[in-house]
Amino acid sequence: MTAALAIQDYAILDDSDCEARILAAKEQLGERLIVLGHHYQRDEVFRHADITGDSLKLSREASQSKAEYIVFCGVHFMAEVADILSRPEQIAILPDLAAGCSMADMADLPKVEQCWQELQSVLDVESKVTPITYINSAADLKAFCGRHGGIVCTSSNAGQILDWAFAQREKVLFFPDQHLGRNTGVQMRIPLEEMVVWEPGKPLGGLTREQIKNAKMILWHGFCSVHQMFRPEHIDQFLERYPETKVISHPECRYEVCQKSHYLGSTETILKTVRQAESGSRWLVGTELNLVNRLRQEMNPKGVEVHFMSPMVCMCSTMFRTDPQHLAWVLENLAQGNVVNQIKVPQDDARYAKLALDRMLALA
Ligand code: 13P
Ligand code: SF4
Repeated sequence: MTAALAIQDYAILDDSDCEARILAAKEQLGERLIVLGHHYQRDEVFRHADITGDSLKLSREASQSKAEYIVFCGVHFMAEVADILSRPEQIAILPDLAAGCSMADMADLPKVEQCWQELQSVLDVESKVTPITYINSAADLKAFCGRHGGIVCTSSNAGQILDWAFAQREKVLFFPDQHLGRNTGVQMRIPLEEMVVWEPGKPLGGLTREQIKNAKMILWHGFCSVHQMFRPEHIDQFLERYPETKVISHPECRYEVCQKSHYLGSTETILKTVRQAESGSRWLVGTELNLVNRLRQEMNPKGVEVHFMSPMVCMCSTMFRTDPQHLAWVLENLAQGNVVNQIKVPQDDARYAKLALDRMLALA
């Protein structure tokens, strides 16, 4: 082991230098390393992933990998999940520690605990409410769900998780993404008026006692700023010109967009669905731009047209933070025996978060 290499020396490298250095470090580390890449990663990083996927697939990969180092090209909560689900001696690494998720940040433990306490003033929460956290959340919120008989969900299993939750108790507190909660509830035929929105900071979340008593789902007032940008009028305008278009969206999109979509699914499901499309078909896709651009390039030669739903650029700026410079930096450090940017969840949180994650993984 030598002194850790400094990120400043990598920031000045151009992408092609990084490319060669990443390949060389990966070659040197061999099976000691696995690089996981989420579908929203930029091309220059995505191409170095050993396994790519949505949040559910990548959590499973992290739990099954034998590699000593799990480098997660994604965002902070994903690397936390990798740390929680891997063996204690394995090391999870996030190339840029500033790669967070703005939606995940919309709920935190003090606010959720406050909500839980306030709900308790209306009903017996422990016997009546199952807390569900979207995987896009901090580890301590997953631990909260573990401690209170709750569970984690992802965009690809939310329906199944809601079924499980309602089999435990009559109501669900769903955080932080109101849209995934609502869109999944609608698919399960829960009336809209039985899904109320809890606004943190307001007394009783801005709800009346009656509204809370009558609700089946209490949805946290959180959202994804990227998926929030897709609007129903984008679909209308496109369908006016090309009425035969198939529309597919991520369930983090608002209700009105999901209602106008023919298909909903996680990033992995979107890719699978469009990859199976017939030649000559046209698709309008409501999810992050890097995924859609790659899918367009892949499907164009097969005669399938792929279009991005918004006229504006909707990229996840935090996913974009992981660049080839940071990836080269963490990998060359590992090759020299230095661990930089390790993500380590405190033991007690990790234990209860794992309980909530294991409940989810056991269901599939
Ligand atoms: P997926 O699990 O569908 O990949 O979604 C993760 C995410 O952050 C979408 O915004
Ligand atoms: Fe978070 Fe939205 Fe980015 Fe997904 S796309 S990581 S939900 S900010």
